[in-house]
Amino acid sequence: VDGAELYKTRCAKCHRDGTESSKAGGGVVLKGQSAEEIEMKLNGYLEGSYGGAKKKTMARVLKKFSPEELKAMAAHICTL
Ligand code: HEM
Repeated sequence: VDGAELYKTRCAKCHRDGTESSKAGGGVVLKGQSAEEIEMKLNGYLEGSYGGAKKKTMARVLKKFSPEELKAMAAHICTL
């Protein structure tokens, strides 16, 4: 699984290069977080235990990925 490719095609539309997010991306910054932190947040969105006002957007996006793909994306995001 190529986390960089998944990020580019499925996440960058909203999260751009990770230093900022579009309005649809809620303005959050992904850069500077560890893979563990990111993975915890991704799983939290899926379980409903993490997130802010726009957490439903992320839960909807993340439903389409396998645990392996989520891990690969988290591993890529911590290199941004
Ligand atoms: C938040 C990752 C795709 C919109 C987040 C956060 C992460 C993340 C880790 C939490 C940031 C933090 O609280 O520190 C990803 C990944 C994606 C993806 C890995 C690709 C699979 C998208 C897309 C959109 C989007 C396509 C827009 C349609 C948002 C919004 C938030 C957010 C609105 C803030 C949600 C809230 O209120 O908690 N994303 N994202 N994301 N993302 Fe994404």
